[in-house]
Amino acid sequence: MSSAKPPRRLFITTALPYANGPFHIGHIMEYIQADIWVRHVRLQLTDADQLYFVCADDTHGAPIMLKAEAEGITPQALVARIAATRPQCLDGFLISFDHWHSTDSPENTELSCDIYQKLKARGLIYPKTIEQFYDPVKGMFLPDRYIKGECPKCGAKDQYGDACEHCSTVYNATELVNPYSTLSGAAPVLKTSEHYFFKLSDPQCLAFLREWTQNNRLQSEVSNKIREWLGDESGESKLVDWDISRDAPYFGIEIPDAPGKYFYVWLDAPIGYLASLKARLRQEGVALDDYLRDPGIEQYHFVGKDIIYFHTLFWPAVLKFAGDPYHVPDNVFVHGFITFSGEKMSKSRGTGISPELYLDLGLNPEWLRYYLAAKLNDRVEDLDFNPDDFVARVNSDMIGKYVNIASRTATFLKKYFDNRLGKRFAALPMAKETLQQANAISALYDKRQFSAAVRNIMELADKMNAYWDQQAPWTLAKRFDTLNDAEREALHDTCSVALEVFRLLTLYLKPILPKLASDAEHFLNIAPLNWREVTTTLPAGHTINDYTHLMSRIDPKQHIDRLLEMQAQKVSTPAPAAKSSTAPALPTIAIDDFAKVDLRVAKIVHAEAVEGSDKLLKLTLDIGEDTPRTVFAGIKNAYAPEQLIGRFTAAVTNLAPRKMKFGVSEGMVLAASGETPGIYLLQPDSGAQPGMKIK
Ligand code: MSP
Ligand code: ZN
Repeated sequence: MSSAKPPRRLFITTALPYANGPFHIGHIMEYIQADIWVRHVRLQLTDADQLYFVCADDTHGAPIMLKAEAEGITPQALVARIAATRPQCLDGFLISFDHWHSTDSPENTELSCDIYQKLKARGLIYPKTIEQFYDPVKGMFLPDRYIKGECPKCGAKDQYGDACEHCSTVYNATELVNPYSTLSGAAPVLKTSEHYFFKLSDPQCLAFLREWTQNNRLQSEVSNKIREWLGDESGESKLVDWDISRDAPYFGIEIPDAPGKYFYVWLDAPIGYLASLKARLRQEGVALDDYLRDPGIEQYHFVGKDIIYFHTLFWPAVLKFAGDPYHVPDNVFVHGFITFSGEKMSKSRGTGISPELYLDLGLNPEWLRYYLAAKLNDRVEDLDFNPDDFVARVNSDMIGKYVNIASRTATFLKKYFDNRLGKRFAALPMAKETLQQANAISALYDKRQFSAAVRNIMELADKMNAYWDQQAPWTLAKRFDTLNDAEREALHDTCSVALEVFRLLTLYLKPILPKLASDAEHFLNIAPLNWREVTTTLPAGHTINDYTHLMSRIDPKQHIDRLLEMQAQKVSTPAPAAKSSTAPALPTIAIDDFAKVDLRVAKIVHAEAVEGSDKLLKLTLDIGEDTPRTVFAGIKNAYAPEQLIGRFTAAVTNLAPRKMKFGVSEGMVLAASGETPGIYLLQPDSGAQPGMKIK
């Protein structure tokens, strides 16, 4: 027997998303990048190899605690609500995680405490008393983001605790003039507290990090950044010790032997990678420690450029010095941010795309996977989502070049050859040339140069289409009944080689387009393709299945315009804060707060659909003023316009007018909605007159 390669053991993660909201498109981009890489590796693995691709919700920290408090629920309930939304979106975009976990889990508590204790035993943890702003009303220490005040330099008001947005000066929260807590409005007071620090400045840490970060494993942009942080070999380390504790009240993991002290969320978050792996391994009866002690483990983390510091300094150092059984990451793969038509994605301005909306509107996930793959590379560059480019690449390249090969060939093969392939096609130059690229394309996937891989694949598709056009099989087909044997065979070969090329291109695109690949495998009537058997051609004389439509084109109007319009509306029509009848109440307000809202009885004198909008009705309201007002309401799904004319309802009349795509909206009508579909317009008892005040 030949000596086999040792089996591969891969452990891959993506960054853990904060569990305070649904996925945004940046998360999905990261998962798609990692998923393509993982799927490509999986297509090469044998049964002896093993790969785990895991993620989890990042649940701890002050923001989640405070958000839950504002909603009147426990942080656990908030986190559970978000966790429940994850599978639909992940499945929707065909992300092949082996497990999704939570940092608020027994596994994570156990691992975090273990790692902490091992670091402590090595003398790398020490306590230090620090002075920090404390909110005396709220009874908690304030993270910088919850402190505002006047800039010490330029005097600009309402500046955050870390830097001035007006003059860009960076300062400490304690330097703000007239500081106040954004939670209670109270003036914060300085208060001391004992914190725990991880000794990142220790010479052994520095030595280790210099070695780990500068040996060509990292992307050059990343190692350059790190060189700034570490200082050069001769110079002093610029690393400062890392404050890893927070005081109660905090949603997190309590530090062993330190009641009222919790691990800072960024300590336990990456440990969540291991917690997720541990939970997954348990399903196979494998202990995490045993798994990690295998020296052949390859551990890779996909992350965005904003969290490089945590993943290339803290995390490797924590693992290194915690020691056995932990494994130092083999690499950290950093990506840039996704922007939208050149702008930062902004939830509040409604730019960008919501992944949930994308799926809800029935857009094909593989369109996005293909588009992102066509633009992703191994550099830390931002990636722009451009709607026109999106349509062009998917329609002209993916469908127009690749899918086209199958659809145009299938007709001939069915009509003239009863879906049976010829005999000699696999030896034809077109097939050989396509096969020759297998290793090069695989290497590009490995290096995360997906855009180059896609370019290479599309060039092969171009060649195949050019070959087809040059062979012009339709000319032979036109006089099929009069063809001699050689001509008939030539026609048969052209059709057959096209499908062999299509088979190869399907394998090459399979990491990006898993669903389409599986449909294509069915069409070709073959077992699932993998990279190990790339040279196994379609068998001579093989029978394929009838062609069924493999993928639709993007219709810019129906898909893109709709997506963007709905996205904008999602933002402009404030979602009901309390989503269901059981939803928690908002915090208490004073009667004066309520009195600020001018609520009136309104008579709907006219109602009409808004051209170009699926959601809005244009209402004309009589609220006892000289001229009626125009209000746009997102109730088209619930009411036909003619149903509404003449009805009374309640309206907010002192909202600032809002300019919408279709005109200016001068108020808002009130309607109820819950967790189940349905919108219910409010109606006063009979006798109420237009303009009457509601109080
Ligand atoms: N919870 C931390 C990560 C802890 S990992 C142990 C966090 N969460 S996050 O939800 O803010 O971000 C999760 C990932 O999404 C990060 O890798 C981040 O870089 C990535 N992205 C966030 N916005 C992004 C874009 N606009 N574009 C691409 N990725 C972006 O950070
Ligand atoms: Zn300033």
